[in-house]
Formats: sequence, structure tokens, C-alpha cells
Amino acid sequence: RIQKSIQMEFYHPHILETNELDVIHEIPLYRPFVEKWAQVESFQARPDDLLISTYPKSGTTWISEIVDMIYNDGDEEKCKRDAIFNRVPFMEMSCPGLRKQLAVMPLPRLVKTHLPVQLLPVSFWEQDCKMIYLARNAKDVAVSYYHFYQMAKIHPDPGTWDEFLGKFMAGKVAYGSWYDHVKGWWEKKKAYRILYMFYEDMKKDPKREIEKVLQFLGKDLKEEVVNKILHHTSFQEMKKNRTANYEMMPAWAMDHSVSPFMRKGMSGDWKNYFTVAQNEIFDAHYKEQMKGSTFRCQMEI
Ligand code: A3P
Repeated sequence: RIQKSIQMEFYHPHILETNELDVIHEIPLYRPFVEKWAQVESFQARPDDLLISTYPKSGTTWISEIVDMIYNDGDEEKCKRDAIFNRVPFMEMSCPGLRKQLAVMPLPRLVKTHLPVQLLPVSFWEQDCKMIYLARNAKDVAVSYYHFYQMAKIHPDPGTWDEFLGKFMAGKVAYGSWYDHVKGWWEKKKAYRILYMFYEDMKKDPKREIEKVLQFLGKDLKEEVVNKILHHTSFQEMKKNRTANYEMMPAWAMDHSVSPFMRKGMSGDWKNYFTVAQNEIFDAHYKEQMKGSTFRCQMEI
């Protein structure tokens, strides 16, 4: 089974011996990814690949499930054929199992990345692939990431919430600065086929956002199919769907008892974590970091 090959070759307990982050081109990243960097850089995209790109914890799994449902014309059973991390492979993981998996995937392929724009393998630009970028409120990302650091064992110890927030603001977490990430992809959309979306818009009006994706992909689905997609990809449905909620990951790699992968799925949970002082510091830092950017922030900050 494909899933087993990935687990054996990458999701193997030995990764826990190396859960400190390395740095590649100034971006902190998981050591096993950095060790295989030459393979990541030389990744061969196909012109019909669809790339799903996000900063971690921005709703990657949600948009991935939506697109897989679209690719399968709203057939839920087909979307339950395998775990989401196999249906939409994680490009920079780049282990031999992943390459085998990509080779046998039905076309067109869906590929996921969290890489900042400057580290994306050049073949994606050369092939002019369509890409969907999903951004989320930085404060909610920080809260979600703090919980993910604790439950996904590839991460170093996040320390206290206050310590983690400091690291997040300084870009000293896996994948580096949130600010640079969203700005970098925002700039690229001027010249490439990138649909830039927001988690908050998806929460507010998921049907409208699914329709945007359909239009971007040049797909036309009947309203009843769109409604099926809407239902299947709601937080409540995805939380109980083992092929979407990461419970198919081995327990030593992700411990859902520490914090479930499908944690709260809401906008504004940061208000339950940020102190007034943290919020003031964060807002000032945010302004400074985003100064001069045309990044259209639809997020309540
Ligand atoms: P929380 O930790 O705030 O709950 P990613 O897939 O990029 O790792 O993002 C995970 C975040 O997206 C988690 O946020 C998770 O709960 C949320 N999420 C996943 N599926 C969702 C859905 N269908 N609707 C809303 N949020 C969802």
C-alpha cells in the first residue's frame, strides 16, 4: 500500500531523534526535509499539476479536501479512498515513497506545499502550474501552530505560549516568517496563475469560495454537487472523517490526545489566548512587518 510505503520511509520513529529545526536558505525547516533538499529543488512539476500552498495551519487540509472533492465530482466515497496526506502529497517531504506515489497518482495531480515562494522548485513556475494560496489571520495561525507543535512530534518543544508567540513573530518556527510568506505569495500572484484565498472568507461564505475555486479550475458542477461538497468539507464532517482528520497518521507521529488535528476550526480563537499586552505588541509588530505591502488583509487583526 502507498500509505505504508510513506510511513515506512518517512513517518518512521527515527524522525523523532532529529526534531530540531535546520535552516535552509535562511528558512527554518524540519531536518529530514533539509537533508533531502536537492530532491526538493529538482522536483519536476507537470503543467497540469495543481499546487495548494499555505503557511502551516492556514486551512491546508480544508482546501485540499475541497479540491479533491471537486476533482472527483463530489463523490464522497472516492474521496475516502485514502488519507488526505496521500491524496494530496506533501511536496517537500520528498521521500522515495512520495515520489513513487506521485508517479502512480491519477492525473491531474494535486500537490501540497508550505514553502515560502522563493523556495518553490522552479519547475512549478516553468510549467506555469495553477496554484491556490490560502492565507489565515496571523493570530489564529499562531494559536493553531502552538497546538500543532505539541501534537505533531516532528516539532521541537514550543515552550510556553508566550515563548512560542515570540518565536512565531520572529519567524523562528518551521517555514519561517508568516509575514514574509503571505507577502511573497501575494506579490507572485501578479504574474502567475495563483488564486489567493482567505480562511476567514471560507468560514463566512464557504459556498461562494468553493464557486471561486470552480471558476479558477474551469469546472462547472451542478448546484446539488456543490452542496454535497459544502457538507462533506464542513468542519464537523471533516473532524469525524478519518481520511481527512489525520487520525490515520501513526500515533507516535501525531498525538491527538494532546490536541486534535481538527481542533476548533474557527476564526478568532486567538482572543482566548492573547493577553492584552501580547495583543498590543503583536499589532505594533504586525504593522511594522506589513508596512509598504499591498497585501489586502481581510482578516480582523
Ligand atoms: P485550528 O487549530 O484553529 O482548529 P492545516 O490543515 O493548514 O494544518 O490547518 C489546520 C487548521 O485548519 C486547524 O485549525 C483545523 O481545525 C482547521 N480546519 C481543518 N478543516 C477545517 C474545516 N473544514 N473548516 C474549518 N477549519 C478547518
